[in-house]
Amino acid sequence: MADPDALRRVCGAFATGVAIVATANAEGAPCGLTVNSFISVSLSPPLVLWTLRRASRTLPTFDRARTYAISILGEDQGDLARRFAGSTARPFDGVPHRRGRLGAPVIDDCVAYLECSPYDRFEAGDHIVFVWLVEQAHGVSQRPALAFQGGRYGRIASIAGA
Ligand SMILES: Cc1cc2nc3c(=O)[nH]c(=O)nc-3n(C[C@H](O)[C@H](O)[C@H](O)COP(=O)(O)O)c2cc1C
Repeated sequence: MADPDALRRVCGAFATGVAIVATANAEGAPCGLTVNSFISVSLSPPLVLWTLRRASRTLPTFDRARTYAISILGEDQGDLARRFAGSTARPFDGVPHRRGRLGAPVIDDCVAYLECSPYDRFEAGDHIVFVWLVEQAHGVSQRPALAFQGGRYGRIASIAGA
């Protein structure tokens, strides 16, 4: 089996976008974190997945919730990515956001967002794989998305034509 550090280095070479996955807790307060494990799975039915560290404080909230939002961040939203990847207990405090039509929190000025409901969930090693049904897909702006590779945030300048 591969050494975990080598695996982390190699997987870190795979450049991804960055999203904030969010829901509301039992009291209705927003809860979310930065992820780059988000991918599209199926168009019919429309499915996406992402993986959550089993030890995450947010796991009970994501397990209990029934509506979710995935906000894809723009290249100028690196500070938000850092904030939602940190240890702040209430990362939404002071961050402009709104409730989507299904009620989950959506980051203002994100590049695009999805509203989802649960579809499947399974355990895989030290992570939980969440598969969600996409109920609504909203507004792709022409703004370039935030990129992440090798532990660093950046721009996808040539794709964006910039
Ligand atoms: C670019 C980036 C991508 C991340 N992707 C994931 C992910 O896909 N799944 C995950 O569980 N944590 C991911 N994290 C870490 C979480 O954002 C971080 O552990 C979390 O916000 C801290 O709260 P927790 O310790 O309660 O999970 C990522 C962090 C960064 C910086």
